[in-house]
Amino acid sequence: MLADLIWQVEAGADEVVGEEANLSNWKGLAAKVRAPQEDLRADPPPRAAHPDPGPASVRRAPPAAIHSASAAHQAPRVTAQTLDELRDEVARFDGCPLRATAMNLVFSDGNPAAPIMLIGEAPGEEEDRQGKPFVGVSGKLLDQMMGAAGFDRTNTYISNILFWRPPGNRTPTDAEIASCVPFVERHIALIKPKILVLLGGVAAKTLLHTATGITRLRGKWTQYMGSPDSGIETPIPCLPIYHPAYLLRQASAKRQAWNDILSLKKRAIDDNVL
Ligand code: URA
Repeated sequence: MLADLIWQVEAGADEVVGEEANLSNWKGLAAKVRAPQEDLRADPPPRAAHPDPGPASVRRAPPAAIHSASAAHQAPRVTAQTLDELRDEVARFDGCPLRATAMNLVFSDGNPAAPIMLIGEAPGEEEDRQGKPFVGVSGKLLDQMMGAAGFDRTNTYISNILFWRPPGNRTPTDAEIASCVPFVERHIALIKPKILVLLGGVAAKTLLHTATGITRLRGKWTQYMGSPDSGIETPIPCLPIYHPAYLLRQASAKRQAWNDILSLKKRAIDDNVL
C-alpha cells in the first residue's frame, strides 16, 4: 500500500479531487511502471509537487506510462465569438485529460481590453485553487517585475497555454498542449492585443511553432501570425521572455528578464499602445 501511495505521489497524484477513484485499473498500471518495492523503501522518491510550476525544461518528467496515458486527446472545433462564449466552450471541453484531475478551470486574469496579452505555460497549485493564472509564487515575481515598469493587471491581460493544472505540476504532454491550442488562438483573436508576450519555453515554442529554446528566443521581437482558421487577422508584435518560475531558480537571469521588460515598455510607448 505504501509503495503504491509513493508511486502515486511520484506520478503527480498528490491531491484528492473526488470521493471515488476513477482509474479502474490503477493497481495494474502501478505494477507495470513502478520500481521494485525494495528500491522504493530504500530510497523513496522526492515529493513531485512544487508550489509553483517552473518551465518544462527544469521540471522532472513523469513516468513514461503516465505521459503516454495522457496522450489521448481530441482537437476542439472552436466556435466562440465572444470571451464569455470561449470560456464556456473551454469549460465544456472534455478532450484534455487534465480537466479530470484539476480542481478549477484557470482561464484568465487582467483587463480583456488591455493592449498587452501575456501567455504562460500552465496553472500551478495556487492557480488551480483560486481559478486564476499567476497568483502563486512566480506570479508574485512577475507582478513585481512588471509593476516596476508600470504594468499591472489593469493594462495587461494574462492567460496560459493550458487551462488546467497538470498533476503535480508535471510537464504538459504534447497532446495536452495540442488539445488546448485552438482555444488559445481564439483567445488571442478575441482579445486582439497590440503586443503579445510569451512567458517561457512552452508558450514560445508552441505559439511560434519552433523547437528553438527560450534562451535563444528571449528578448527578440517577432510577429505572431496565428493559424489560418484562428481568426487572427494581422500579425501581432510578439516578445518571448523568460518564465518567472525560471527566474526564481536562476536569479542571474533576472537581469536579462528586466532588459526584456524594458524593451516591452519601450515598444509599447513607441507604438503608442498604452
Ligand atoms: N506558471 C504558469 O505558467 N502559469 C500560471 O498561471 C502560474 C504559474
